[in-house]
Amino acid sequence: MTTLAIIGGTGLSQLTTLNNPRSEAINTPYGNPSAEFIIGEIQNKSVVFLARHGNPQAIPPHKINYRANIWALKHLGVQNIIAVAAVGGITPEMIPASLAIPDQIIDYTYSREHTFFDGIEGNVTHIDFTYPYCQKLRAGLITAAKTANLHVSPIGTYGCTQGPRLESAAEITRMERDGCDLVGMTGMPEASLAKELGLNYAALAVMANWGAGKTAGEITMAEIEENLHHGMVNTAKLLQSFIAAY
Ligand code: HPA
Repeated sequence: MTTLAIIGGTGLSQLTTLNNPRSEAINTPYGNPSAEFIIGEIQNKSVVFLARHGNPQAIPPHKINYRANIWALKHLGVQNIIAVAAVGGITPEMIPASLAIPDQIIDYTYSREHTFFDGIEGNVTHIDFTYPYCQKLRAGLITAAKTANLHVSPIGTYGCTQGPRLESAAEITRMERDGCDLVGMTGMPEASLAKELGLNYAALAVMANWGAGKTAGEITMAEIEENLHHGMVNTAKLLQSFIAAY
């Protein structure tokens, strides 16, 4: 059986359901990952957990060492990654506290170390990125949601911004015109690095708020925390259901 990894984002810095957990620190040629990896079992299946922003949460999205995180997961023998991410909702279905399984991505980030193939070894490699997310893992998440009687948006385009600031209302309007359904700060280069190393990767997006300008007034941290609190309850149920069928 292939090992599953869960990368936890804002609102998910621990996986309390892991049995027999042990921590492992891994140094990589790219530096240190965000945190120690917590390795254990859920329903007798081997699961690796990583807190993307560190535990306690301290690393902002643009400072995350995505290459070290993905390299270390590969080193641990992980084949499948479910990446949980807090995001803002842009299109009408992406209601705060709801869940989505994105199927596409647009990268608005800059200045991040975003590839393992930077020409140092003299070879130029261009991975295919037509379908950024693993269709099989996405289908598994959608089925798991049905089994657990949870509503998820089964598709959506994730727009990844640089952060750490939230967007202006005009930026969200532009992203919507571009075709984005939701906006987050950590989906890239995580997804493409996983693909570069041949790992299967799917995202589970949790709506923390409406994107800037979608409601009157400004976005508050209090509303983000409140929505994430609710969204994470269903995230935990969905992950349990997914792992039961894994
Ligand atoms: N924008 C970008 N990233 C986010 C947001 C947002 O509105 N909410 C949670 N992560």
